[in-house]
Amino acid sequence: MIRTAVLVSGGGTNLQAILDAAKAGALPHAEIALVVSSNAKAYALTRAEKAGIARAVLAKSSDETPEAYGQRLIALLREHDIQLVALAGFLTILPENVIRAFDHRILNIHPSLIPSFCGKGFYGLRVHEAALARGVKLTGATVHFVNEIPDGGDIIAQQAVAVLPGDTPELLQRRVMEEAEWKLLPAALEQVASDLSV
Ligand code: GAR
Repeated sequence: MIRTAVLVSGGGTNLQAILDAAKAGALPHAEIALVVSSNAKAYALTRAEKAGIARAVLAKSSDETPEAYGQRLIALLREHDIQLVALAGFLTILPENVIRAFDHRILNIHPSLIPSFCGKGFYGLRVHEAALARGVKLTGATVHFVNEIPDGGDIIAQQAVAVLPGDTPELLQRRVMEEAEWKLLPAALEQVASDLSV
């Protein structure tokens, strides 16, 4: 079993999808060993507590360099023997030292079909607002490896989702989560954990 950390900042519905998949036996190669939140008030922490998973809050302070914050995060992950990391709505840009320390071992879920509506400034509802403003008829979600370019790493899996007449950003966000994100992230996590196990 590959010891896996999930990094969160908010509601944690993607974390919940991972926890549900683990409970259902769909993650035979990944053990969810730690949840790290950038925000002490994130509901994702309650989800982790209910599932009996170790939790930590690690926020970057304003007077801290990205490198120093990265060192603290690397130390925390090492302390828990973490081998694989999933970003599930984690809104802090990962410092380069973390990306280097976990090369091709950090996955991110992004709520669009990369390369559309991604990169700096595209997160959460903003992604769906941009998709609706552009008038696309298909959007979706992407799981990719994290490298030094925001949303620029190798793509692992994508799922398309229809944009429907009358969609609001909130409606579209919910459909992308239900039809794509909550299936795609656990499946990609299992695939990468399985590849790391051989
Ligand atoms: C998800 O839609 C995720 O794809 C998005 O934030 C949301 C978190 O929701 N991530 C990004 O926009 C990253 N650029 P959750 O906390 O309920 O999983």
